[in-house]
Amino acid sequence: MGKPFIAGNWKMNTNYRSALGLATGLVEQLKGVDTVDSAVCVPFVYLQAISSILSSSNIALGAQNVFYEGNGAFTGEISCEMLKDVGCTYVIIGHSERRHVIGETDAVINKKVRAAITGGLLPIFCVGELLEEREAGKTEAVVSSQVRKGLQGIDAERVQAVTIAYEPVWAIGTGKTATAEQAQEVHAMIRGLVAELYDKGIADRIRIQYGGSAKPSNTAELMANPDVDGLLVGGASLKTEDFSAMIKTVA
Ligand code: 13P
Repeated sequence: MGKPFIAGNWKMNTNYRSALGLATGLVEQLKGVDTVDSAVCVPFVYLQAISSILSSSNIALGAQNVFYEGNGAFTGEISCEMLKDVGCTYVIIGHSERRHVIGETDAVINKKVRAAITGGLLPIFCVGELLEEREAGKTEAVVSSQVRKGLQGIDAERVQAVTIAYEPVWAIGTGKTATAEQAQEVHAMIRGLVAELYDKGIADRIRIQYGGSAKPSNTAELMANPDVDGLLVGGASLKTEDFSAMIKTVA
């Protein structure tokens, strides 16, 4: 297992003022914390401003989406090079809201993961089952299919850039966290699959985050699982106190 990795996903929240305030507060709160990798994935329009604020800190910057083409006539899209240009290290790809609200397919997500790696970004590649899929006993089939399709064509060397985030859709923004056992069970399955697709060394090193109503009060319990290497945090990452408390708990 690598260094724990806690990332905040601000989603389509904040405004210019509150975004800068949140970033400034985190820099202040997390001074000297270096045993955990941390990142904030912020709306595109605030990346540049937040990049300057984070430059004096250990907190990395990430985006929430990227397009797979390098440049050209793709109105409304943002390239890897643009994200690098404004200081991004990470990019979230295949978030369940993009899969289920925007309609992104496994094939599109795979193109994005590949483009991100080629473009020098570290993808946070998200997978997770819907409630009806869990209830139908299809969690393993759904998640393993998403992992296989998302990582298709990515060789052993390149896959080391990837963090996988397991986010059960029924736990996102619902206040309903997966139990530590539920998270561990799926994380172990994902790690086993990575070992099968690549090798055990890569599987041991790849970081698998849990996401879905993670908050200060359940951080220690979730992180105590052997296969939970980090968290991808939505709502709680919008509060300086909560997000920094989570990172300090892990540190
Ligand atoms: P919440 O932490 O708000 O449930 O969101 C999780 C998530 O989707 C992070 O990407």
